[in-house]
Amino acid sequence: MDITRTAEWQALAEHHRAIEDQTLRTLFAEDPERAARMTGRVGDLLVDYSKHRVTDETLRLLVALAARAGLRERIDAMFRGEHVNTTEDRAVLHVALRMPADEDLVVDGQHVVRDVHEVLGRMRSFADRVRSGEWRGHTGRPIRAVVNIGIGGSDLGPAMAYTALRDHTDRELTVRFVSNIDPTDFAEATRDLDPAETLFVVSSKTFTTLETLTNAAVARDWLLRGLGVDDAAVARHFVAVSTNTDAVRDFGIDPENMFGFWDWVGGRYSMTSAIGLSLMVAIGPEAYDELLAGCHAVDEHLRTAPLEANVPVLLGLLNVWYRNFFGAQSHAVLPYSQYLSRLPAYLQQLTMESNGKSVRADGEPVPTATGEVYWGEPGTNGQHAFHQLLHQGTTLIPADFIGFGEPAHDIGEMHDLLMANMFAQAAALAFGRTAEEVAADGTPPSVVPHKVMPGNRPSSMILAPRLTPGVLGQLIALYEHVVLTQGVIWQIDSFDQWGVELGKVMARELAPALTGAEPVAVDQDGSTAALVAEYRRMRGR
Ligand code: F6P
Repeated sequence: MDITRTAEWQALAEHHRAIEDQTLRTLFAEDPERAARMTGRVGDLLVDYSKHRVTDETLRLLVALAARAGLRERIDAMFRGEHVNTTEDRAVLHVALRMPADEDLVVDGQHVVRDVHEVLGRMRSFADRVRSGEWRGHTGRPIRAVVNIGIGGSDLGPAMAYTALRDHTDRELTVRFVSNIDPTDFAEATRDLDPAETLFVVSSKTFTTLETLTNAAVARDWLLRGLGVDDAAVARHFVAVSTNTDAVRDFGIDPENMFGFWDWVGGRYSMTSAIGLSLMVAIGPEAYDELLAGCHAVDEHLRTAPLEANVPVLLGLLNVWYRNFFGAQSHAVLPYSQYLSRLPAYLQQLTMESNGKSVRADGEPVPTATGEVYWGEPGTNGQHAFHQLLHQGTTLIPADFIGFGEPAHDIGEMHDLLMANMFAQAAALAFGRTAEEVAADGTPPSVVPHKVMPGNRPSSMILAPRLTPGVLGQLIALYEHVVLTQGVIWQIDSFDQWGVELGKVMARELAPALTGAEPVAVDQDGSTAALVAEYRRMRGR
């Protein structure tokens, strides 16, 4: 089925032509109940989607499209553990990572929930031992620094959550994240650490990733050189998180010190698997459990709420509305919380690695636009940088505002001012300022057009009482399911990532030419060959 040829898609296209010029000003003026009606709740999150360029009819048509695309069936199939990641022939079960221990799910002969809780139990006891000082380094000193080595989904989730939950962390413990193969990353992360008190968590689903294995090898050298001992010290200073026991053993880490997960956890969906180990050490098992419970609350909402009242489904459908009918190319994430500064980066992998596809799951070309570019910065910083374009630029960019009732640090009126800015930005984007309103201020006529704010720029407002581990879990699951919704409409496999493989292979092939071990291949393209030659000159090779 070509989704764009269905009656449901055609109805939306026609409806779009009919309402594309309607303004949010008019929609709000004509309907005092709009904000109340277009606000959903999931867990602790209040999601106001009234400032979107939609009517009740738009939402009805979008839900009809979702039904036609088989969204409910796909959600159910995912929860049952069917192989909805078709190109890799795998189940997609990150939702099982947050199921309570008394749930029973057997998939492909595996007792999924039982296995998840077995690993969680080991993680808890490890985290407690590190936090209490019971886990000792090779020289008998307690661990004071934990360094997670991983990249992509093995870094972004725990790194984002660590920053987000800084206020919930054990401040006696230094927790750092090394991801980049740029040696600067490792050097800066370890420059003031004492090897005797440092524990490395090597996190890699495959345990074959060049960046992670290189950084892990460098870390092992750093540790052994620092302690002046042999490999025996590795056991007290390295643990692994992976699905690949053999590769972990080959690296020299005892599988006893390995925390496993499974191929049905995609890298970018893995932050609630053992990949969250460094986070659990930082915030403690209880807070980590709250995070899992937050995810589970939203998972259950996805599974049980009707599509028309299903918050992540509605947000995903709104994204489809802008991407496919308004031609929006990007989506801004604007957390009004400094603690969420890494959320946009985390969401970039989640959304763009999932839905940046141009072939459908059945191998046919996608007949319409797919994944948007996600980007963002915490407010109010973004206001003084790129909001000008959001307000008056020629591009439509839907935005998510995320804010909290209670601040972690209540200092004077600062939080009220922060939130006033958030609410004001969303209102200014939606309702703008007309030429008449600008002129009424006494603005000179020649300046009036420059001060007109066109408005009609859509946004969602996500408001929660406070940024707790549970609320963070809810936000994570919310976005995961937004991504799922869009992927189902576009009929793509949101759980593979073949597009990142070629670059990895080419880098491995090119590396010997850079080090001077080999000449540049004769069939290398002219541009790359010239750049490599220049690089070698710079390096004196
Ligand atoms: O860049 C591709 C990717 O496979 C991501 O999907 C993944 O999160 C990341 O690399 C890291 O992979 P691994 O956990 O296997 O080291």
